[in-house]
Amino acid sequence: MNKVVVGAQWGDEGKAKITDLLAQNADLIIRYQGGCNAGHTVVAHNKTFKFHLIPSGILYEGKTCFIGAGTVILPEYFEEEIQGLIKEGIDVSGLKINPLASITMPWHTEIDGYSENTAGKGKIGTTKKGIGPTYTDKMARIGLKIEDLYSEEALSEKLDIILPLKNKQLKEVYGLKTYTKEEVTALCRKYAEIFKPYVCFEWQKVLEDAKREGKAVLFEGAQGVMLDVDYGTYPFVTSSNPIGGGACTGSGYGPKMIDEVIGVAKAYVTRVGEGPFVTELKDETGGKIREIGHEYGVTTGRVRRCGWFDAVTMKYAVLVGGLTSVALTKIDVFDTFDEIKLCTAYKDTRNGEIYTNYPTDVFCHKYLEPVYETHKGWGVDVSGIREYNNLPENCKKYLSRLEELLEVPISIISVGPDREQTIFKINIK
Ligand code: IMP
Repeated sequence: MNKVVVGAQWGDEGKAKITDLLAQNADLIIRYQGGCNAGHTVVAHNKTFKFHLIPSGILYEGKTCFIGAGTVILPEYFEEEIQGLIKEGIDVSGLKINPLASITMPWHTEIDGYSENTAGKGKIGTTKKGIGPTYTDKMARIGLKIEDLYSEEALSEKLDIILPLKNKQLKEVYGLKTYTKEEVTALCRKYAEIFKPYVCFEWQKVLEDAKREGKAVLFEGAQGVMLDVDYGTYPFVTSSNPIGGGACTGSGYGPKMIDEVIGVAKAYVTRVGEGPFVTELKDETGGKIREIGHEYGVTTGRVRRCGWFDAVTMKYAVLVGGLTSVALTKIDVFDTFDEIKLCTAYKDTRNGEIYTNYPTDVFCHKYLEPVYETHKGWGVDVSGIREYNNLPENCKKYLSRLEELLEVPISIISVGPDREQTIFKINIK
């Protein structure tokens, strides 16, 4: 069975753990979008591994892990990540890069940094890893792809087109440093060496063979549905498509290859960066969730904004993300809470109107306040529980209510960071 793992909120839902668990039974794992803006933590072999771009499935021997065509790769960051894994004794021979993936060039990170530092009220709160500018150039058809690094002719011709445009923009729009062709060519030679052991020019054959042989494919998404460039809280989004549909464009496989889309959501909500967040808690309760849940960013170390579970956005995520089930993480964070709130609707403070469907006009979100129902806490440490039936009654009630509101089953419940701290409510392994 082929599965997609999608973040169902604003990223950082604990996808890495779920991907890692499902990777056990997968033959081929494909990361389909985003770049090193992502930060995934996996606890395995008694160690904590931090991933940005490389599929965490690499921790298992004998798996093929693809960095798909829909991704953007910052070479220096990639090298650092791979060297870190090699140093820990991880076998990285199964890693392959689709030559159609895009390269983040130095000007992309520089433009990202400049835009963030000067945007004032328009600040997105990006990770400053050049993601937006790399995708912008890809769409404008002036980007470089990994395959360009291995053809001197193609690279030279492309640079003749790209550099005059880019330099004009860097100088006149941003007042930033410009680049000579010699400089960029030398840089590209260095990049070619970094990627050489992993670039897979036979990617079509690998994908065709896997399909023909009925190999199990796991599609690994980054960020989350609410950060999707088309469906998220635009413009406070990333520049790619984390939704289930993105798995097709980013991997090279069509929709019929996908059997399940598992949306990973926390039992509460977090968000980093700017943008609307209706259930955000700026009080002690938010602080308590942050401390117990260790809600600090893996990539940027930023403090994550915290709030109650928002079933309005999550129901929207079920639809546009194409979710077939939900993996609910960090439920143990609520073990010591007397009460747990759940947002079931939004109230428009301008006219009292109640919305149960997610309003996509995010500029009106500042006028919305959450309508909550309150659930009793369970007051029991659930981190050691491995069977759904052994969960406390109040916890099961809360989970059933979520299923009722979302109209999809909860397949996995995570009660702690370790692989073992997992309850499979439905056997989707
Ligand atoms: P960018 O992807 O760096 O352009 O950032 C755009 C928005 O997406 C910002 O709000 C970031 O904080 C957010 N973002 C990007 N990657 C992640 C992630 O992996 N987890 C959570 N938020 C992310």
